[in-house]
Amino acid sequence: MRLVLLGPPGAGKGTQARILAEAMALAHVATGDLFRLHQARGTVLGKEAASYMERGELVPNRVTIAMLLERIQEPDCAKGFLLDGFPRNLEQARALDDALAKRGWVIDGAVYMKVPEEKLVRRLSERLVCSQCQAAYHTESAPPTVEGRCDKCGGKLYQRKDDSPDAVRRRLQVYMEQTYPLLDYYRTLGKLLEVNGEPPIEEVTQEMKRVLDRVGLASAKGRGVK
Ligand code: AP5
Repeated sequence: MRLVLLGPPGAGKGTQARILAEAMALAHVATGDLFRLHQARGTVLGKEAASYMERGELVPNRVTIAMLLERIQEPDCAKGFLLDGFPRNLEQARALDDALAKRGWVIDGAVYMKVPEEKLVRRLSERLVCSQCQAAYHTESAPPTVEGRCDKCGGKLYQRKDDSPDAVRRRLQVYMEQTYPLLDYYRTLGKLLEVNGEPPIEEVTQEMKRVLDRVGLASAKGRGVK
């Protein structure tokens, strides 16, 4: 099965993607995490991406599409995958569909996580991220057990540069201009599923499972697996 998670910055895509990918035995592919990994390694791609990410702009399609298409050819993606943060504009969505079609694959569903803007700003301003495994925490709604340390791997927690108020404002604008129109793209294809991303994390997970179950996509054996 191949799923896409859609939603504004801070909607909880990464949080839910980690839970669902594990529960459904899918590979979790997050373009933001891939860029941050490149930055941590100091690669040329990482340096180029950083200059866009810090300002809240999208990294150019040329770089992003190539990186994503390479990633989904890795063996762990053969069992199915959950995309988090990709596609983010129409060109990316079309490039993804074209590449999948060449392998006889399709996107089975696109889950849109809806959250009001004032909540997004609050979530991002107090988010902490693991410097090693990139798991997200929140000082109020999802605090780590040991302050400053990741529950999963013990990595040091830090605040992302693009969670500054200016960058968040720009990310929300970019989302509305470039990513929001993808809802129509997937709606027209009959693939759009909607989930309320406002309730606590566990409740959102349950709703996502219910929504996926309703259309026969709740397990990796869903209709898209070959
Ligand atoms: P990326 O890393 O993808 O960031 P994003 O899409 O802006 O999403 P976020 O990671 O900010 O939020 P999220 O929805 O994953 O929320 P999370 O689960 O962390 O991209 C960063 C940058 O990389 C982009 O701006 C761009 O520059 C570049 N990039 C990436 N992909 C690209 C692409 N395809 N094309 C071009 N450029 C690209 O949760 C947020 C917080 O809320 C956390 O603290 C969490 O603990 C908390 N939380 C989560 N759920 C709940 C809940 N239900 N209730 C209460 N708190 C919650």
